Amino acid sequence: MRTGEPYGSGGSLLISRRELATRIDELAADISSRYASQERPLVCISVLKGATFFLADLIRALSIDVAVDFMSISSYAASGPDSGVVRIIKDVDEDIAGRDVLLVENIVDTGLTLTYLRRTLLARQPRSVATVTLLDKSARRIVPVPIEYAGFEIPDVFVIGYGLDHQALYRNVPDIFEVPDIAALRKDPALLVTSLFGSQRD
Ligand code: IMP
Repeated sequence: MRTGEPYGSGGSLLISRRELATRIDELAADISSRYASQERPLVCISVLKGATFFLADLIRALSIDVAVDFMSISSYAASGPDSGVVRIIKDVDEDIAGRDVLLVENIVDTGLTLTYLRRTLLARQPRSVATVTLLDKSARRIVPVPIEYAGFEIPDVFVIGYGLDHQALYRNVPDIFEVPDIAALRKDPALLVTSLFGSQRD
């Protein structure tokens, strides 16, 4: 299947699994060379759940030793979705003071989540904090935020697959698909299930 080709009802391929693998190898080479001479292993932190797919592939492509940790967050409903105020549900286990930290994100959209995460981690006196994101939707940015490594710049479209979900569905789709009709998907969250997975979930 080629990029841009329509796939079943309502989705079209944006980034294939092969393109993902190639770009992740390139990102891993850049990151490995930057941290190659560090005395203590780089701490790779990813946010549950979506970024864990990217994290798993990225760290296995690195040629340096790393520690892996996870955070889980949720938006404060009372503050509104664009407030950037989030609540930490699960914090990292590692003490990151004096450590080099790499935040591993699957997508940066408005930049609010990343801004909050960076501020939270920087307050713990790490040696450095850098960010790698697989996808950068910079057209939607509300707050400018530094991103040291970005896999793909994407337009202002809603995407699913490779960890990215819509109402908890589609994370395990191996490629990244663009959803042209988000209104139709909101009305029927399982709209693309049959075209992407066949009929087993009918
Ligand atoms: P932020 O707007 O940069 O704070 O991103 C918040 C979160 O929105 C991301 O971590 C994703 O979970 C989610 N998100 C943004 N754009 C998309 C998309 O196109 N597909 C799926 N999730 C998205």
